[in-house]
Amino acid sequence: MSYIEIVKEKFEKLKTKKDIIVLSIESSCDETSIAVVKNGREVLANVVSSQIEIHRRFGGVVPEVASRNHILAISNVYKEALLQAKLTEKDIDAIAITYGAGLMGALLVGVNFAKGLAYSLQLPLIAVSHVHGHISANYISHTELKPPFICLMVSGGHTAILQVEDYNKFTMLGTTVDDAVGEAFDKVARVLGLPYPGGPEIDRLAKQGKPVYKFTVSNSLKNTYNFSFSGIKTEVVNLVHNARQRGKEILNQDIASSFQECVTKELAEKAVRACKNYGFKDLVVAGGVGANSRLKERLALLCNENNLNFYSPSLKYCTDNGAMIGSMAYYMIRDGLGLAPLSLTAKPNVELNKNAF
Ligand code: KG4
Ligand code: ZN
Repeated sequence: MSYIEIVKEKFEKLKTKKDIIVLSIESSCDETSIAVVKNGREVLANVVSSQIEIHRRFGGVVPEVASRNHILAISNVYKEALLQAKLTEKDIDAIAITYGAGLMGALLVGVNFAKGLAYSLQLPLIAVSHVHGHISANYISHTELKPPFICLMVSGGHTAILQVEDYNKFTMLGTTVDDAVGEAFDKVARVLGLPYPGGPEIDRLAKQGKPVYKFTVSNSLKNTYNFSFSGIKTEVVNLVHNARQRGKEILNQDIASSFQECVTKELAEKAVRACKNYGFKDLVVAGGVGANSRLKERLALLCNENNLNFYSPSLKYCTDNGAMIGSMAYYMIRDGLGLAPLSLTAKPNVELNKNAF
């Protein structure tokens, strides 16, 4: 029997198998991560090798440097994941891989490693969307959480409001018309001279400042679930440059606070409005910017006022990690989705509402 015939049979059996153990790989940006996840919710291992220190001196992720470092790290991360899980390769039921969205070269390292593993172990290869993985991070942190719910997806690459009707059914209600919110955080941090990644730095600095500057977000999108962050980004950049040229003193913490107040208000209000208008009781935040303390504070407060339940992943599952991919893969396997051939390749862009590769 050929590889694909063998794994199709195994995949079919997994739909009803009592326990499923997935080994999952994530390499879409600057984190090489491999996890072992049981039944979508129990993390047996989650090894993350971060390249943040390497990219910091460049002020952002350098794609070619990221790919090279994924290659250097991935075999050891794999060995470490099995060690931490106290399992051997024989215990694994499927290999899950982030096939997109992300940096092409970085994704390819993970995809090819996953294909090699799947072939040598004769295991089903499950192709998972990175964005869906971010949503699944919430299933790990909140074992009682089940769809349907509204998801506010906020990362370095995406900003959207999604209706999650079922584990594998997503409808996009709105998205950004220009920059992702994480991009805006990183750009504002950069103009303030803060190190990469800028989001956590702005979060930290904003706590020491006051929102004295009145930045704005696009008024024309007010009645939609869409976002625009390039305008506010330019407002901040212009303010800082003008002040510097005139020798006027500005406080970085006040800029950080003003920017953060403005964008978190926009994100939280639209997400809560979507939840109410579409008749959902649960609101979930996902993605790296979901780690932002002010965004979480606002969402929790607004949800409380509107009798909604608010969920966010614990900090370590907010930013990129392999465990969230293993969780998502479990729900795809149960629904008979995601089985990929060995011709699978990486995709820099993936439509948010689709889980076909
Ligand atoms: O989800 P993620 O790890 O990677 C992508 O899929 O893009 O998100 C990374 C983004 C970066 O822009 C980073 O600055 C931002 O998440 N981020 C934050 C915080 N922690 C990470 N932004 C605001 N506040 C934070 N605490
Ligand atoms: Zn991510």
